[in-house]
Amino acid sequence: NRTFFFSRHGESEFNVLGRIGGNADLSSRGRKYSENLAKQLGGPGSNPNGPKPRLIWTSELQRTIHTVQNIPGPRTTLKDLNEINAGICEGLTYEEIQERFPQEFAWRDQDKLKYRYPLGESYLDLLQRVDGVVQALLLNTDVLVVSHQAVLRCILAYFKGSSPEEIPYVNVPLHTLLIVKSYGYDFKIETVPLKV
Ligand code: G3H
Repeated sequence: NRTFFFSRHGESEFNVLGRIGGNADLSSRGRKYSENLAKQLGGPGSNPNGPKPRLIWTSELQRTIHTVQNIPGPRTTLKDLNEINAGICEGLTYEEIQERFPQEFAWRDQDKLKYRYPLGESYLDLLQRVDGVVQALLLNTDVLVVSHQAVLRCILAYFKGSSPEEIPYVNVPLHTLLIVKSYGYDFKIETVPLKV
């Protein structure tokens, strides 16, 4: 049996402004989440008999690195865990994208799975990108993965067996720890929302 822990980064300054992409740091609520997540996973104030990750994997972006800052354990940053690259739309709000690039906005709406941002990525690109991470995960246990919504949609799809078409629409909420336990080929996902 294997156990994996997944979380999005805590709320970032860009989440507060509704902007996508970029490399903003955590907001004050995001910092609170990093403390509460640590309490669940062997950090200050945690239950000594509670779970402790053996490995901690984050993206290269400061919002994921800072989310795990209070959790003890060896950490690795992986480029493959970085958020979907929104290309020319990085740093914009969805409203701004619709205003500045109405055709792009419409195309994405029509086929969110295959749509590739100009100079950026599609969900299909992401599925390829996370394949190596998933294979590496399955060789380990008790790994904490802190990444981003689009990337976690793709990783969790492997465990849930989601169809490619539904992947871009799966809700992966902020400030929620997901505990995935595998029993052979069967997986169970527990959702632990944490107050901030
Ligand atoms: O920054 C992007 C989000 O995490 C994913 O949003 O639903 O536009 O793919 P999306």
